Amino acid sequence: MNHTGVCGASCPRAARTRGLSAGTVWLLCCARVVTLRVSHEGLATLGTMCASPEPSDPADSPDVAAVAAVPAVAAPVSAAHARIAGELPRQTSRLVLRELTPADAAAVHAYRSVPEVTRYLGHPPLDPDGARDLVDRWLADPAGLSVALELDGAVVGDVRLWFWPSSVKAPATSEEVDAGLGYALHPGQQGQGLATEAVGEIVQLVLGPGGIRRITTRVFAAATPSSKLLCRLGFHLDGVDRAAVLAPEGEVWWDDECWSLLRSDR
Ligand SMILES: CC(C)(COP(=O)(O)OP(=O)(O)OC[C@H]1O[C@@H](n2cnc3c(N)ncnc32)[C@H](O)[C@@H]1OP(=O)(O)O)[C@@H](O)C(=O)NCCC(=O)NCCS
Repeated sequence: MNHTGVCGASCPRAARTRGLSAGTVWLLCCARVVTLRVSHEGLATLGTMCASPEPSDPADSPDVAAVAAVPAVAAPVSAAHARIAGELPRQTSRLVLRELTPADAAAVHAYRSVPEVTRYLGHPPLDPDGARDLVDRWLADPAGLSVALELDGAVVGDVRLWFWPSSVKAPATSEEVDAGLGYALHPGQQGQGLATEAVGEIVQLVLGPGGIRRITTRVFAAATPSSKLLCRLGFHLDGVDRAAVLAPEGEVWWDDECWSLLRSDR
């Protein structure tokens, strides 16, 4: 699968951004360096990845010590988190979006145990204990917000946000906040626009009035449904980390796409 086949016809903005200049590639490299520096310095949040092997959602990482080492969440991050959490629960045309709870672990297990779902996520198929651990770690992360997607009273998916201060380069300061984005939907509910509906509502909430500066995510180029979803919601394909990730079978190196949506894009 080639990312250029994902949405060339349907997403002109992404198509435009595919002609990466050397400068863009350099900037992408810098972004990753800054991301790593943030994590090394123990600042609020540790990166931007959705599915890569160095997942920037700290609570999605097997290395829970990294989460425990984060001492405190910066005030703008707390404020953004509180504002968005305060807007939940929310009703979309078909879904209720509400904060995930420990009681949702069994529902999360039902889809995060499926190899087709976890293939492009930062963890392998989960057993019930693994799902419980994941939910516990998500909920213990003060810089993260986990949203359950409820359809007719049953949890069928999740959307996860994690926040960090936009500016990490002293001496400039900023109260702006960035967020990473991840999502998964039960395979039995895919193909109906439910994920687009849920993520679209969350994006509106996150970048809307009083909202944060930028949402960013990474998607393995092979994860076509995810790239299409981001396209549909107006995300920009900023660039591609070429041959960045070894596929689970260990034979192919996947490209890793960098997507973003700015408040100022809207
Ligand atoms: C990424 C993921 C959530 C996308 O799921 P999805 O069902 O393809 O996305 P949506 O729910 O938005 O549905 C879109 C599909 O429904 C169709 N659809 C049907 N009714 C629709 C409606 N009312 N509105 C929008 N789309 C509709 C769309 O045409 C589209 O199908 P297509 O891709 O064949 O064109 C899902 O593939 C998944 O959970 N994958 C595993 C986890 C993962 O990879 N997460 C992302 C990591 S970065």
